[in-house]
Amino acid sequence: MMTVCDSEDLRPGQRKLVFVDGRSIVLFNIEGTLHAIDNACPHNGASLASGQLDGCMLRCPAHGLRFDVRTGCMPGPSGLRVATFNVHAVDGKLAIDID
Ligand code: FES
Repeated sequence: MMTVCDSEDLRPGQRKLVFVDGRSIVLFNIEGTLHAIDNACPHNGASLASGQLDGCMLRCPAHGLRFDVRTGCMPGPSGLRVATFNVHAVDGKLAIDID
C-alpha cells in the first residue's frame, strides 16, 4: 500500500492525478466512493485524467472509448480494460494497493 495524498485533497466530485511507484494514476471521488485507474488508455496510451465523466463512465479524450472507473471495463461483454487499483482511506490519508 502506498500513501498518495491527504483524504481532504479528494472531495466528492473531485479527481486527482498522482505519481506513485513510477506510475501515473488518476483518483476519483464519485459521490463519496473512491476509485483509482491507470492514467493510460489501453487503446493507445492517451492520458485519461482529463476525460469527461458521466456517472462512473470515463471517456478517453483521445478517441472517445469509455471505461467504467469501478471495473476498468468498457461497456458490453468484451473490449479493452484499463487497470484499476484499490483505494483506502487510512488516518486521513489515501493509499493505493500497488502490486
Ligand atoms: S487512446 Fe483512448 S480511445 Fe484511443
